[in-house]
Amino acid sequence: MDEFGEAPLDPYAAPAEHDLETSLRPRTLGEFVGQQRVREQLELVLTGALRRGSPPDHVLLSGPPGLGKTSLAMIIAAELGTALRVTSGPALERAGDLASMLSNLAEGDVLFIDEIHRIARPAEEMLYLAMEDFRVDVVVGKGPGATSIPLEIAPFTLVGATTRSGALTGPLRDRFGFTAHMEFYVPGELERVLRRAAGILGVDLRPDGAHEIARRSRGTPRIANRLLRRVRDYAEVRADGAVTLEVARAALSVYDVDELGLDRLDRAVLNALVRSFGGGPVGVSTLAVAVGEEPSTVEEVCEPYLVRAGMLARTPRGRVATGAAWRHLGMEPPPTAPGEQPPAQVEDLGRGTLGTDRTE
Ligand SMILES: Nc1ncnc2c1ncn2[C@@H]1O[C@H](COP(=O)(O)OP(=O)(O)O)[C@@H](O)[C@H]1O
Ligand SMILES: [Mg+2]
Repeated sequence: MDEFGEAPLDPYAAPAEHDLETSLRPRTLGEFVGQQRVREQLELVLTGALRRGSPPDHVLLSGPPGLGKTSLAMIIAAELGTALRVTSGPALERAGDLASMLSNLAEGDVLFIDEIHRIARPAEEMLYLAMEDFRVDVVVGKGPGATSIPLEIAPFTLVGATTRSGALTGPLRDRFGFTAHMEFYVPGELERVLRRAAGILGVDLRPDGAHEIARRSRGTPRIANRLLRRVRDYAEVRADGAVTLEVARAALSVYDVDELGLDRLDRAVLNALVRSFGGGPVGVSTLAVAVGEEPSTVEEVCEPYLVRAGMLARTPRGRVATGAAWRHLGMEPPPTAPGEQPPAQVEDLGRGTLGTDRTE
């Protein structure tokens, strides 16, 4: 933890970071780095809608935290030139909460529901009708005397964001006309994110310094920007202010960010998997207990990146450490670890399910 009350590699924003994030958020699709496919598709959706003069289809943004979902929701409203109303799944506990939100929308507004997979059931059912027919049925009274009053709402665009698209019900998912799956960023893209942030923050970021920070940012722009601020502190206090390769390396080791950008929790998960469970397979909830974390944190925060980094494989029987994970912990992998060639029976390798990504 540092002065923001944040772990340096936590992909969620700490409350004290919100203002800083606002200043670093891209404002237009053109400023939004990476996610080439999503950007191109979204551009078509938005341009088509603008030409027709009607609100675009509802948009679902799915992917791990810190990849730019909230930024994209704001960009969608900005590109359409409309207002953005913001709420979240957990805030919509009762259908009435959603009804009042919906009835205040003006034509063409964008309604952003963050963490939409956590919306309560009654609100979700109300949302179906709202998304499809731009009306809701408000129930007045209780028991036999209850009546349902239909209420027209202005045509709007719903933008939902979720870290767990697998947890969305089918009917809700089906009502989105466009789903964007956000991918982890490659280091070159993160370098661009960093150069942009350095420009805004006035940091003297050298190319080799940018390269090093990008490489260790877990494929996540939010983390890249945060590491930049931590490295800048180091550069100003212990060096001449310039963020060079040497400064970046020295600073990142102070903050316990390892060579691959894995943080303490990532390493704890790998350690438990390898040392306590012989490399797996083991269920995600057992792993979570072993590292003292919520299963959802392990599943939504750690796992996607560990899979992407080739350290962990999801199999039908549970999570398995790859050969690369064993080596990263300084241990020799067993020949059965995914990614290892069993010396005797090479033809066994194509067992298929290893390494496939079942969620998302
Ligand atoms: N494509 C991008 N280009 C530039 N900066 C980005 C991009 N995506 C995210 N960021 C930065 O990362 C921060 C977190 O992004 P955010 O949209 O809040 O992620 P999410 O909602 O997916 O958790 C933003 O404040 C912004 O500074
Ligand atoms: Mg967000």
